[in-house]
Amino acid sequence: MEVQVCVGSACHLKGSYEVVEKLKKLVGEDAVKISGSFCCGTCGDPRVSVKVNGELFHVAVAEVEEFYEKEIRSKL
Ligand code: FES
Repeated sequence: MEVQVCVGSACHLKGSYEVVEKLKKLVGEDAVKISGSFCCGTCGDPRVSVKVNGELFHVAVAEVEEFYEKEIRSKL
């Protein structure tokens, strides 16, 4: 599974670095590749833009664990 976290300037300010760090810890041995992406064009959302196999989501730093379980781990 491919997870791309937006590291554009707006998402950077909203905590994309922390989102990446939390995701890295959660991934462990799971078959998930994390990478960065340029601006997804949805900077207006107050959360960080994250794509999972091309599907766009918005995730706050505090929501990363719940997001991982629901949108990533359950679909592996
Ligand atoms: S900077 Fe992330 S959507 Fe624009």
